[in-house]
Amino acid sequence: MQKYAIPCAKSATFSEYNQAKDYVKHQKPPVVVKADGLAAGKGVIVATSIPQALEALAGIMESKTLGVAGNKVIIEEHLSGKEMSAFAFTDGKTVVPMVSACDYKRVYDGDLGPNTGGMGSYSPPHFYTPELGKIVSETIMEPTVRAMAQEKRPYWGVLYGGLMITGKGVKALEFNARFGDPETQVILPRLKTDLVDIMLAVINGNLNQIKMECSDEACVGVVMASAGYPGSYKTGFPITGLDNLDKDILVFHGGTKRGSEPGQVLTNGGRVLTVVAMGKTIAEAREKVYANISRIKFEGCHYRKDIALVE
Ligand SMILES: Nc1ncnc2c1ncn2[C@@H]1O[C@H](COP(=O)(O)OP(=O)(O)O)[C@@H](O)[C@H]1O
Ligand SMILES: [Mg+2]
Repeated sequence: MQKYAIPCAKSATFSEYNQAKDYVKHQKPPVVVKADGLAAGKGVIVATSIPQALEALAGIMESKTLGVAGNKVIIEEHLSGKEMSAFAFTDGKTVVPMVSACDYKRVYDGDLGPNTGGMGSYSPPHFYTPELGKIVSETIMEPTVRAMAQEKRPYWGVLYGGLMITGKGVKALEFNARFGDPETQVILPRLKTDLVDIMLAVINGNLNQIKMECSDEACVGVVMASAGYPGSYKTGFPITGLDNLDKDILVFHGGTKRGSEPGQVLTNGGRVLTVVAMGKTIAEAREKVYANISRIKFEGCHYRKDIALVE
């Protein structure tokens, strides 16, 4: 991103522990410490003090708590603002923006508690104006696809930009090569064009011929989780109420299985279901989701009550 002037946090990369330590000591908190390798979502520490940053660094580089993922670290400037995800389809040349979303990683209301795989999401973010969308496309998504081609690593498929809308403009935090869970559950219901047609155009390199259409409606998704999640949890509890939902409600089964009785559904994972509704506004979609969630029951079920509570 630095090489291609794609707006992002200032950062420095280290493979020597002592050099990294020295650098961190001269930063102003908060400071972000990132393991360079894959760390199952546990590789980023947003440290609010220098001692905390040094402790994170020692864990990653000295004690190797994340294994070889910690051979290299990135020390990043802390960005504050509104976090959101932008999505696009690309065939390596054309970049077609998809609708955007916000997700909720922490297990409890008010963004408290440990991180999870995601407890809910909504689309579109209330602050995502068409002007902001244009800036995201022109300064982040399109330059990234061009840069990948220039690096002789052409990229096609789904581009997911993890962004921070700061007082000094939009900055990229990360990229993923997929839609994300639970963001997929709230962006695909808004897609009116056939996803297969889009994906074929991505593969065949003729995405410029696709006219993609998305619904103006808002979409909200809330994850229902097992007791104990994201820590250890039990499974095998019967889920009731799934046949008592409004017709236009979508329920995505993430961690369920069929029981021995006809029609019986049992819990079989940490994040069990994502319940999704669309509405004219975020508030309307949110109300519909929670009205239906209250009809679904299983032992120990918990979910956040503040998903898409934005106004
Ligand atoms: N430079 C930064 N400033 C502030 N927060 C950050 C920064 N980088 C990452 N974060 C926070 O840490 C989270 C995880 O970082 P991310 O780069 O998305 O890693 P992962 O690969 O684990 O998803 C982000 O969603 C964001 O909330
Ligand atoms: Mg991330």
